[in-house]
Amino acid sequence: MPDPIRPRTFAHVVYRTRRFQEMLRWYQRVFGAKVQYGNDALAFLTYDDEHHRFAIANLDVLKPGAAAPAAGRGEIGVDHVAYGFASLAELLGKYEELKALGIRPYWCIHHGVTVSLYYGDPDGNQMEFQVDCFASHDEANAFMEGPHFSANPIGVEYDPDAWLARLRAGESEQSLLPRRVHLPVSEVRGALAPAAAHLAS
Ligand SMILES: [Fe+2]
Repeated sequence: MPDPIRPRTFAHVVYRTRRFQEMLRWYQRVFGAKVQYGNDALAFLTYDDEHHRFAIANLDVLKPGAAAPAAGRGEIGVDHVAYGFASLAELLGKYEELKALGIRPYWCIHHGVTVSLYYGDPDGNQMEFQVDCFASHDEANAFMEGPHFSANPIGVEYDPDAWLARLRAGESEQSLLPRRVHLPVSEVRGALAPAAAHLAS
């Protein structure tokens, strides 16, 4: 059996909260983090030159009301953790490797700063496998501060099989990585759908 493709970095963790401002203040104070991009629903924070080390999702905006916890899992807490891969070829190679094992992503999304695949473990813990779209942190940070990110900070869905075919046909990573189409805004399946629902789909 070939050696599995491994992530290069541990990238970030995303939390869901109903104490949005309090959480923002806590991560700013404890980690010396700054808000790289934020609105009422979602904030991305970093404490180093990575574009984000934390994201905080505000359930009071995204899911108003005291909704029942989804599929027995806590509504508040860790939404997902993210691992970075060295290249788009490695990310899509990982997709292919896992597909052969019967393990499929439940969300394939071009976030703008990363191209990402979301997977659930057997308990429904969510993880993001990603590759950076920009060669430098400055470029990624500039994108997050620009109009396309504020118009769509969630992302646009893509088909990993189609992308893999394009890469194998000779298209460059540099051609595929920039997000040129910014709509439609995808539903936040990773953050807000019941874990069991997207594992079954
Ligand atoms: Fe993420």
